Amino acid sequence: MQTEIDLWELAAPAFVRALPALLEVYRAAMDPPRDQLTGRRAIMERHAGHPRFRSFTAVRTSDGNAVGFGYGFHGRHGQWWHDVISDELRRRDPEAERRWFGDAFEIAELHVLPEWQGRGIGRRILEALTADRPEPTAVLSTHSGPTRAQALYRSCGFTEVLTDFRFPGSPDQPFTIMAAPLPLPAAPHPRSAGRSPGSRSTG
Ligand SMILES: CC(C)(COP(=O)(O)OP(=O)(O)OC[C@H]1O[C@@H](n2cnc3c(N)ncnc32)[C@H](O)[C@@H]1OP(=O)(O)O)[C@@H](O)C(=O)NCCC(=O)NCCS
Repeated sequence: MQTEIDLWELAAPAFVRALPALLEVYRAAMDPPRDQLTGRRAIMERHAGHPRFRSFTAVRTSDGNAVGFGYGFHGRHGQWWHDVISDELRRRDPEAERRWFGDAFEIAELHVLPEWQGRGIGRRILEALTADRPEPTAVLSTHSGPTRAQALYRSCGFTEVLTDFRFPGSPDQPFTIMAAPLPLPAAPHPRSAGRSPGSRSTG
């Protein structure tokens, strides 16, 4: 099946309007407990107000239905994730904290519907998110283990800066914090599947 996929850049107001559809992608990709989705929506709405917010949604050209999305923003003191991670990294390795978190683009979410995974869509979203950013680094957290997400991030130049990290309130789930210099290296072998030339901006 060769289906065209477009990338739409959604500015914060359009992103908030699209949240019901994007949460469906999140639910299918992450399979979280149902009762966490309301809280997740509130977090995403708050994230849309963070500085230099940028989001991309992958949609089927034929009907505009979302099959994936990702977003991030400029990290700074006062944001929950930024403070939790940078405090811990500063304790373990102050030089690494300065290098990676001093002026970073923080990638908060990246998800693709299960039936669309493995076709280069996650990579396209990640590349679009990180293109032409003013920040010299990108940082993110991801579940520990040999996941597809980690394979993608590694192949884009991300390395581990914190391993076996437990967020407050989730002591049973180990996370890995990864960081990469920006710009990311050019893709080693651009894929053709699902690729269409343009991306579109929506305010
Ligand atoms: C992680 C995720 C966003 C990646 O999106 P994707 O569209 O599936 O990924 P891509 O097809 O762009 O693949 C990118 C890389 O992943 C790796 N990959 C792809 N298929 C893989 C597989 N079956 N097993 C392991 N790694 C795989 C490869 O390194 C691939 O690079 P390549 O283009 O050089 O082959 C997506 O798989 C997903 O939503 N997973 C569940 C939710 C999740 O974990 N989100 C990330 C939270 S941090």
